[in-house]
Amino acid sequence: MSASRSVLLIIGGGIAAYKVLELIRRLKDRGIASRCILTKAGEQFVTPLSVSSLAGERCFTDLFSLTDEADIGHIQLSRSTDLLVVAPATADLIAKMANGHADDLASTALLATDKRVLIAPAMNPRMWQHPATRRNMAQLERDGILVVGPNSGAMAERGESGPGRMAEPPEILAAIELALAGEKPSTRAIGFLGRLPGRDHPPAGALAGRHVLITSGPTHEPIDPVRYIANRSSGKQGHAIAAAAAAAGARVTLVSGPVNLPDPPGVETVHVESAREMLAAVEGSLPADLAIFAAAVADWRVADAASEKMKKDGGKLPPLSLVENPDILATVAQRKNGRPGFVVGFAAETQNVIDYAKAKLARKGCDLIVANDVGGTGVMGGDANTVHLVTAEGIETWPTLPKEEVASRLVAHLARLLPAGG
Ligand SMILES: Cc1cc2nc3c(=O)[nH]c(=O)nc-3n(C[C@H](O)[C@H](O)[C@H](O)COP(=O)(O)O)c2cc1C
Repeated sequence: MSASRSVLLIIGGGIAAYKVLELIRRLKDRGIASRCILTKAGEQFVTPLSVSSLAGERCFTDLFSLTDEADIGHIQLSRSTDLLVVAPATADLIAKMANGHADDLASTALLATDKRVLIAPAMNPRMWQHPATRRNMAQLERDGILVVGPNSGAMAERGESGPGRMAEPPEILAAIELALAGEKPSTRAIGFLGRLPGRDHPPAGALAGRHVLITSGPTHEPIDPVRYIANRSSGKQGHAIAAAAAAAGARVTLVSGPVNLPDPPGVETVHVESAREMLAAVEGSLPADLAIFAAAVADWRVADAASEKMKKDGGKLPPLSLVENPDILATVAQRKNGRPGFVVGFAAETQNVIDYAKAKLARKGCDLIVANDVGGTGVMGGDANTVHLVTAEGIETWPTLPKEEVASRLVAHLARLLPAGG
């Protein structure tokens, strides 16, 4: 494994095992290598071939394999990684962990490791609520095992619902990022990960039947056909919000400036370049129940962009005069007809973050501003964000979190604030 961060992913025998294939892909996108162990029951749900194809190396299944023991023994397997992740963590694996069993490769690795362990439980609500599972979970929490989820919602079994759905891949990814960061002494303690509070993640279907419109990324304002004015926005935060809203059951339209990111699955993505194109695409996508303007829209554009490439002219500098771009947030938030039920703006500032955000909230007529400090912190283009939620009622400050985690919390928060709608 050549990536700088790696996890040993133990895939248990539950329906949710298929979601772990998506998790492996997302981990790879974040530069986190996964080496995988598939339990015997896990093999009934996903194949070693699909797991190893996605992980980019063979998947381990057998404790008593002579070749495996010669190649990389079970002890080394459990230690040559930064974090062990069990997903789905079945009732059976949880019971084995709580009682120190070691009768297969997965449970032996879990007992032999000297690394932190994160589990994503997944099971039927009755199994989750059974006193035996409650006892086992209490033991795991005492043992310092980190837990993400489960969520509440509909089960694969017809007519069953309640707590027990495995956390979604972005949620598990966020928990992995936090757990990995927790190993660096300079970063925030991750004790609260012992249980990621359920309220920070939207319950399944929290935005079902809603249309959510999101803008993301920078805009490019042409100078001539080959040059443009841009900014450092990567679109990571806006795209993560779109993915989280879709995971919460919304119909999502994402209007994206030029970014190097794949379109989030299950999201209708409209690609634009300039601020004016973005405004047109936003207005064309209304009505919406919720609009979140996360794009870093250029405030200005070149007044008369040249239609042909500008040439050097003996040291004479071309005059570039700027004009103001339309204000997309204010235009939509102040609409008399067809204003979305709830309008959220983003404010990226390098100083006086909260004061500017409060002023922006009043000036633009939106319902909530997500303010972030982008001064020298690597937020623009980076993977983490520290945000303040500013409303007329007050300010809520969140700790520094991976952008996926900010997205998930924000969607959960907004789902609660959204006016009841039809
Ligand atoms: C169709 C089907 C789905 C299952 N889903 C789950 C599940 O979501 N969670 C769980 O704890 N067990 C589930 N089980 C039971 C486990 O597969 C079984 O307890 C198995 O022994 C777990 O082995 P493992 O923990 O080594 O992966 C399921 C069984 C079947 C047949």
